[in-house]
This record gives sequence, structure tokens and C-alpha cells, in this order.
Amino acid sequence: MQQVDVAVVGAGVIGLAVALELRSRGLSVAVADKSDPVREASWAAGGMLAVDDPENPAPLWPLSAWSRELYPEFLARIEQQSALSVPIRTHRALQGSHEGSSSLEALNTLKEIGLSPEGHAWALQVEGSLDPRDLGAALQAACANTDVSIRSHCAIDTLARDGAGWRLQSGSGDILAYRVVLCTGSWAGPGNLPVFPRKGQMMAVEMDAPLDTVVRTPEIYLIPRGDGRVVIGATIEDAGYDKTVHSADIAALKARAVKLFPPAAQAPIVETWAGLRPATHDGMPLIGAIEEGLYAATGHYRNGIQLAAATARAIGLQLSGEPLPVDMQAYAVNRTFGPVFAQPS
Ligand code: GLY
Repeated sequence: MQQVDVAVVGAGVIGLAVALELRSRGLSVAVADKSDPVREASWAAGGMLAVDDPENPAPLWPLSAWSRELYPEFLARIEQQSALSVPIRTHRALQGSHEGSSSLEALNTLKEIGLSPEGHAWALQVEGSLDPRDLGAALQAACANTDVSIRSHCAIDTLARDGAGWRLQSGSGDILAYRVVLCTGSWAGPGNLPVFPRKGQMMAVEMDAPLDTVVRTPEIYLIPRGDGRVVIGATIEDAGYDKTVHSADIAALKARAVKLFPPAAQAPIVETWAGLRPATHDGMPLIGAIEEGLYAATGHYRNGIQLAAATARAIGLQLSGEPLPVDMQAYAVNRTFGPVFAQPS
């Protein structure tokens, strides 16, 4: 049996970022994952730090903006603790919308990189992107180097109060923790949290044409990794926990990308994959106390990478009983959900 100050359930980017934040506050931390660390939504994500994407629900903005502010320090600390680099791979994004008009600088950038305007209004945004697999590797190494234990293939079967803390029972031994943070992504997990998966199919292509800008419309995005690979995504599907990649869906995505960026026609597909976004019924994450000593940090839907910095800090401040600079009511676990999404059929 392992005894720690805090047990984190779920070793995705959110779980590991939370674990490191709590460790930096002097707490002993164990992270349990039902399979391998950072292999679900964190591994599948695009990695756009898309604070100003007009598709984001408006109440997300204060949390996103706070996370943007924290991000440089968040990454620098992970890089220092892991001795691994997490490079920012792009520094700007062309955002296409169905409404409004294009800015002159956006139109000039479109022309410069050979993009077809494709019936959208365009804006040029200052925004970064990273490869979430770089971040996942660095987070794991940072945990190893700071004495945060990650227990892989350790599904938590039951979570029950035990004295002043909690007992987490698993087939590979129990964990006794004073506090627990549930970062279980698309899985309701031992807290039976109101989250559900929304599937995204994606691909990476290899391109000769230089592209140094994220291109995003409500229908598609292209994310250059700075090494010739460009990630193209993504479908949004209610398909339960199915992660099958369908060649017809990939072909349709590629055709859409080619319409926007004709040089993509010649680009061979080098990888395809699908991931499960942890969605909630109002599009906002669940961050904060469920009951005394039990917290959630999940449901980040399309923005888990971008929101990791603020989510980890928010949990750190809440566990320490310190005030937060952002009103967290829109993300509270006990809020009443207003419907934003169509329910999965
Ligand atoms: N964050 C990109 C996506 O959800 O597809």
C-alpha cells in the first residue's frame, strides 16, 4: 500500500501538470492511470494554444487568458525539471470565420503562404502551438525527476473515505491519500463525473511547401510542426469510445485541407490517428472541489493542452486554500449545465 498526501487519478497532460504543481508545493504525490501515461486525448491533441478561437464558448475566456499568461513559466519549469525541450512550433494563426470581414494583414499573410480564402473572413492571431507528444514526454520525465510516482495500468476500482483521507483500491495495490484529484478525461472514473467522449480523427502529412502558420476554420485546421510535418484535423463525432480511423473520413479531411491550401494535394499522409476529447454538456471543464478532500480537473474538451497551466495552478491554489485570480464558478463541478452540444445519439 502506498501512502501519499495527494493521489491524482489519470496521467494525461492535465493529471501530470496537476501532480507537478502539487509536488512544487511540497506535497507527496502519486498518479494512477488505467493504462499508459499521456496516451489518450493528450497524445491525440493538435496542440494549438488557441485562446482566441471564436469557436470556444465565451465563459472559457478568463481561464484561457490566465493559462496563456502562465504558459511561459509553466513550460520553462517542465523543461528545467525534465531536461527536455518543448518547443513552440508556430507563433501565429490564421483564423477563418463565417462572419465578419478579413483584415488586411490576414489577407497579406494568406497571399504570402499561398492559401485560398475559401469564402471565409480571416484574422491573423498571435498564438503558439506545440507538439503535445513533446509535452507528454517532458511531463513524464519531470515527474520521474521530482519524485512523483506514476503507476501505469493501475485502474482505480473503488474510491472510499478512509479516516481523514481516501482509499483508492486497485488490482495492483491500494493507495491511501489525504486528498484526491480526478483527472480522468473522457472516462467518468471513480467520481462518476459528467463527461463523455467526442471522437476526432486526424492525420499528419509531410510537406515540401513551407508553412509556418496555423490555419484554422470552423471545419478544419492545419498545424505545421516546423519539421515538414503538418497535422490536419479533425472530425468531431459522438462515437462512444471507438477510436477507429476510417479512410473515407481521412480522405474527406484531406480534400478540405487541399481546397484551403492547394500544395497539400501532393503531401503524403505519414500518420493517421483518432482521439477522444473529454466533453461536458456545456463545453466548460470541471475544475474544483467535489466534496471535502476530493477534486476534479477534467472535461477540457478541445483545449486541454492550452488550459493545463491554469488548471494545475487552480488546483494548487484551491488545495492550499489560497484565493484564485479568476472566478471559477463557470467551471465548478456542481454547476447546473446549460445545453450547448447536441446530446450524443
Ligand atoms: N483541439 C483540437 C481539436 O479538438 O480537434
